[in-house]
Amino acid sequence: MTELHTDLTKFYARRAPEYERIYQRPERQAELRRLERAATEAFPEMDVLEVACGTGYWTQFIARSARSILATDTSRAVLERAGEKDFGACDVSLLEADAYSLDSVPGVYSAGFAGFWWSHIPKNRIADFVQSFHGHLEPDARVVLMDNSFVEGSSTPISRTDEDDNTYQIRHLEDGSRHEILKNFPGEENLRASLAPWARDVEFVRLTHYWLCRYRVARRSALSDT
Ligand SMILES: C[S@@+](CC[C@H](N)C(=O)[O-])C[C@H]1O[C@@H](n2cnc3c(N)ncnc32)[C@H](O)[C@@H]1O
Repeated sequence: MTELHTDLTKFYARRAPEYERIYQRPERQAELRRLERAATEAFPEMDVLEVACGTGYWTQFIARSARSILATDTSRAVLERAGEKDFGACDVSLLEADAYSLDSVPGVYSAGFAGFWWSHIPKNRIADFVQSFHGHLEPDARVVLMDNSFVEGSSTPISRTDEDDNTYQIRHLEDGSRHEILKNFPGEENLRASLAPWARDVEFVRLTHYWLCRYRVARRSALSDT
């Protein structure tokens, strides 16, 4: 049996050349247009911090109306692909940075975006991620998250569930490699509960293949009230 790899960054680095084919799946096209519109309209004239930007697929839509974007990811290979995109007049910078520890990120931003990243966060690291992310966002900053819904027959099947209730998939790449990838599919209640300490005005939109969540960064952590 081929070796089973488990490193998420290395998986996406190896997947970089084939990654954007995921956006060509015929059954997902109508919903993708809807998400692309949402990304295009989300941050007019704002300065956006994007985490886990990958090949910059969503960055290119955000760039149509944002003033600036700092797009970050842990994989240099995907950032190189993002660097080949045309971002028009938007001031886009690309930076290698870990979403759980954004110390290398300069400044504070009026908006935040994470596309198809939430599903890869182990449940016991959600708080670490949100605190790291919000640490670079202004109070009231606008945030958009988008990710996959699980669709039987379209999504890669779940291969196992661990003791923390994280789910995993086995993914195969064109180079023949096999990867076990943590991929969670939170429901609306679950996502709202995860964000509650740090977010206000949370809006959740469930599509068939995707979900979209918009919120504002809470001025004070609800945890600090206790
Ligand atoms: C599903 S891809 C999403 C890429 C892009 N946002 C999109 O939607 O097309 C997940 C991305 O997370 C990146 N990644 C993995 N671990 C990370 C971490 N700890 N911090 C930031 N990015 C990470 C991977 O390199 C990959 O580009």
